[in-house]
Amino acid sequence: MKRVAVLISGGGSNLQSIIDAVESGYLDLEISVVISNKEEAFGLTRARNHGIPTAVVRHGDFDSREEFERALIQTLDSRSVDLVVLAGFMRVLTPLFVRHYHHRIMNIHPALLPSFPGIHGQEQAFDYGVRFTGCTTHFVDEGTDTGPIILQAVLPVLPDDTVQTLAARILKEEHRIYPESLRLWSEGRLRIEGRKVVILPGKPGTGD
Ligand code: GAR
Repeated sequence: MKRVAVLISGGGSNLQSIIDAVESGYLDLEISVVISNKEEAFGLTRARNHGIPTAVVRHGDFDSREEFERALIQTLDSRSVDLVVLAGFMRVLTPLFVRHYHHRIMNIHPALLPSFPGIHGQEQAFDYGVRFTGCTTHFVDEGTDTGPIILQAVLPVLPDDTVQTLAARILKEEHRIYPESLRLWSEGRLRIEGRKVVILPGKPGTGD
C-alpha cells in the first residue's frame, strides 16, 4: 500500500477529508504521518483522534528555510513516504525540498490556478470581481503554485456572496477533489507529461 505524509499548518479540514476517505475505503493508502510547522494546529488533534502518528517541525527553530526543510526531509524519509500531501501547509518550499521529492508533492490551492496563486486565493479572486473561481490540485514544482494541474472545481461567485460564504463553498469542493486526486494517484493513473497531467483510464467495470 502506498504511504503518504500530510503537511499542515492549521485547522486541517482537508486532512480530515483525506482521513475520512481512507476510513471509508474510498482511498487505498496509508497516512504514515501528519507533520505541522505549528504545534497548535488543530489538524494534529484530528490526526491523533484517528491514531495517526504526528510530528511538529517548527520553522522558527531553524536559521534558514533550507535547515527547516532538511529537518522535514529527515522526518519524511525515516518513514519512507511515497507522496508528500500539502493540505493548508503555509510555508513556501525551496528547490532543495522540491527536487528531493521531484513529482512526489501534491498541493491544493483555493483558486483556479494560474490565477490568484500564493496566500488568500479566495479573497484575491473575490476582490478582483471574477464571476467564477474554485480550487485546484496540482503537483508542486519550483514556482509558487505553478506545477502541473491535476483537477479543478469551478464555482460561480453569487451576487450575495461574501469572502466567507465563497471560501466555505470552495472548501467544500476542496474536500471532494483532494481525495479524488489522491485516489487517481494511488491507482497509478496520473502521468506527468511536461506541464500536463494525463489521467489514464480506470479498470473497466469500476465506474471510473
Ligand atoms: C485550504 O483552503 C487550502 O486550500 C488553503 O488553506 C486552507 C487550509 O484549510 N491552502 C492555501 O492557501 C495554500 N496556498 P484546512 O487546514 O482546513 O485544510
